[in-house]
Amino acid sequence: MTYRMRPPRDIVSGRGCIGEIGNIVSSFLPKSIAFLVDGSVHRSGGSDNLLEMLRAQGAAVHIVPDVPVEPEVGQIRELFTSMSGLGVDLIVAMGGGSVLDSAKMTSVLLRNPGYLANLLDAGLIKERGVPLIAIPTSAGTGSEATPNSIVVVPEQQLKVGVVHPFFIPDCVILDPEATVSLPANITATTGLDAFCHAIECFISKKRNPFSDLYALEAIRLISRSLLRAFQDGSDLEAREDLLLAAFYGGMCIASSSTVAVHALSYPLGGRYRIPHGLSNAILLPWVMDFNRGAVAERFARVAAAMGIPAGADDEETSKKTVEGIFTLARSLGIPSDLRELGVRKEDLDEIVAAAMKVTRLLDNNPRPVSPEDARGIYLKLLP
Ligand SMILES: [Fe+2]
Repeated sequence: MTYRMRPPRDIVSGRGCIGEIGNIVSSFLPKSIAFLVDGSVHRSGGSDNLLEMLRAQGAAVHIVPDVPVEPEVGQIRELFTSMSGLGVDLIVAMGGGSVLDSAKMTSVLLRNPGYLANLLDAGLIKERGVPLIAIPTSAGTGSEATPNSIVVVPEQQLKVGVVHPFFIPDCVILDPEATVSLPANITATTGLDAFCHAIECFISKKRNPFSDLYALEAIRLISRSLLRAFQDGSDLEAREDLLLAAFYGGMCIASSSTVAVHALSYPLGGRYRIPHGLSNAILLPWVMDFNRGAVAERFARVAAAMGIPAGADDEETSKKTVEGIFTLARSLGIPSDLRELGVRKEDLDEIVAAAMKVTRLLDNNPRPVSPEDARGIYLKLLP
């Protein structure tokens, strides 16, 4: 099997490292910078220092503060249209997964107007996009490390992951200080999204030595620090662990693939607009329970990374792993009933049908997933 890793070209990490932005930006010799920023980060003043440093570079800086949350195809088109006459030659994106994904798509659109015809068809992308600097303010999606962009297709009530190597940012700035104001519930769900990336990629049929390396370290860091950051958002040590773990999770996705958790999660996001991290967090323990028997040895290695003592054999240890995941989700306040989020049993046929279409991910699940299996997993969450 051939496996491949395409990391971002420049990765800067550490507390306060946003201060490097001047040096980083100047290497691109920009004349016109688009600054895509999360609306709440911008309004709370969280991007003021960065903006000042960008302006000091002498280039025109166009602030784009209304980047859509969980963007729809039409919203990405509008975003591109609003930027297309500005002569943008560098994009700096600061925000969570939605902001980074929007920036990745607009960066490519600015150099590939033909791609506008169908954003779901990555085959229309021919040229590298406008250079992109990604600064995550949440520790979850790992979008800063991946060639994936997620868009909502409202007609199909589905979220679709579009994949192209030109979506990989040119530079990533991982500054834990940019994540301290993240509320506890978002810290929990985004952290568990990163946890899903690591575990799913570790048991995926596409797993490989590169993804294994990053997955086990991400699992270790999240197990050590997610509860800490949830309980005390100002804990910078924990925030740093989580930001690294989310990036590592993205590196896993870039060379392996997520599996049934993400596949079953997409219809919940598309149809009910349940945030991505939350639907994954709810599904994770049950999908892992479903997969456990197929990859018990892998689960034993996950247990070790989580700090769970081994049982008598891999089978027993794998049970303890799943229990550990249930416990973690519970202690982070993750609900276990999808009805609380508006999901109705009457919709189940359509939800299952939509999930079964996500073959890009389901095909990589270590245990085959039939429509009945998917229904069984959803039913655990619809008591
Ligand atoms: Fe995810």
